[in-house]
Amino acid sequence: MPAAKRNRRSGGRRYLASFMSGIEPLVGSLLPRVLPGARLRHIEPGYVLFDYAGAEAELVTVPLFNNLFRLLYEGRALPFERLVEEVGRRRLSHGQVEGTFRLRFQHEGRLTRVAPETMARAERIVAEATGARPDRVNPDTEFWYITRRSGAAWYGRRLARQRRTERDLAPGELRPELAWLLVALARPRAGEVLLDPFAGSGAIGRAAADFAFKRMYLSDMDAARVDSWPQEARFVGMVADARRLEAIPDGSVDAIVTDPPWGLYEAIDVAGLYRDFVAEAGRVLRDRGRLILLSGAVAQWQQAAEAEGFQIAGRWDILVNGRQAAIFACMKGR
Ligand SMILES: C[S@@+](CC[C@H](N)C(=O)[O-])C[C@H]1O[C@@H](n2cnc3c(N)ncnc32)[C@H](O)[C@@H]1O
Repeated sequence: MPAAKRNRRSGGRRYLASFMSGIEPLVGSLLPRVLPGARLRHIEPGYVLFDYAGAEAELVTVPLFNNLFRLLYEGRALPFERLVEEVGRRRLSHGQVEGTFRLRFQHEGRLTRVAPETMARAERIVAEATGARPDRVNPDTEFWYITRRSGAAWYGRRLARQRRTERDLAPGELRPELAWLLVALARPRAGEVLLDPFAGSGAIGRAAADFAFKRMYLSDMDAARVDSWPQEARFVGMVADARRLEAIPDGSVDAIVTDPPWGLYEAIDVAGLYRDFVAEAGRVLRDRGRLILLSGAVAQWQQAAEAEGFQIAGRWDILVNGRQAAIFACMKGR
């Protein structure tokens, strides 16, 4: 059944969003929270399909997504020339297009060239449906054909795109959507005090700026990092060892959100660092304070946290740059 018909029945449009591959378990569980009313339809590595009846303006602000599409067609993966024919036969409503458009063809995450006749046919379909002109260089709107090894094929209109790519990140910087996801898991509230004691380039602080809270300490042992942290008055920057956060009073922090060293590139005793850090975290956190942490040294963190009496309320195994890692949601006390 064409997507448009099904969407009318479900009372919402269907959308397709791409996201950093490897975080599927979290995208599935966070979607209803970040987009109240959204209904998850399908999730596979790097892509989620969902129905949403709210304003599209809400969707384009979700930092979890890279590319976001209004879905016009979904079906079985076919060679692109046959898929274009299939889309053409259905005479889909493409919505209004102001200005110009371009077609993109992507297979398994890579943009692909198609035969000139296929491109011309795909352009004619959009031009006839919208009255708009193609512009292959500097278009106002894009329509994408996407096929996947999973057997899925999608055709949609792109509504938003990722603003920062891998090349824009500082060395070791957490991807912004992953940083945002960690902060979202901490559920910060107005009036609360947050802390990232391994702040590095400050990705978690920048992500936190979207949320309500009273104060956030950003701290790192490396003094050269301080300049890249947010300058807003709610952020307090410190140069300190995460094992001795002397400037922070006992029981004064509501949530720690952090990405400590994983021991992959630095010659450090990760188990020892985690043991000492979690003891200090236990000192600065209030009772039932939250600690959200991402690490590739999964066993070492779990052992350190449990030994210090932290409750592990959630654990999500994910891939970060192809490496096994886990996000932990821990709580002080039981
Ligand atoms: C994995 S990086 C954090 C990356 C950060 N989330 C970002 O997006 O840039 C770990 C950071 O911990 C810092 N670090 C290592 N050992 C530390 C310690 N004992 N106390 C405080 N910071 C430490 C390093 O300088 C590094 O910036």
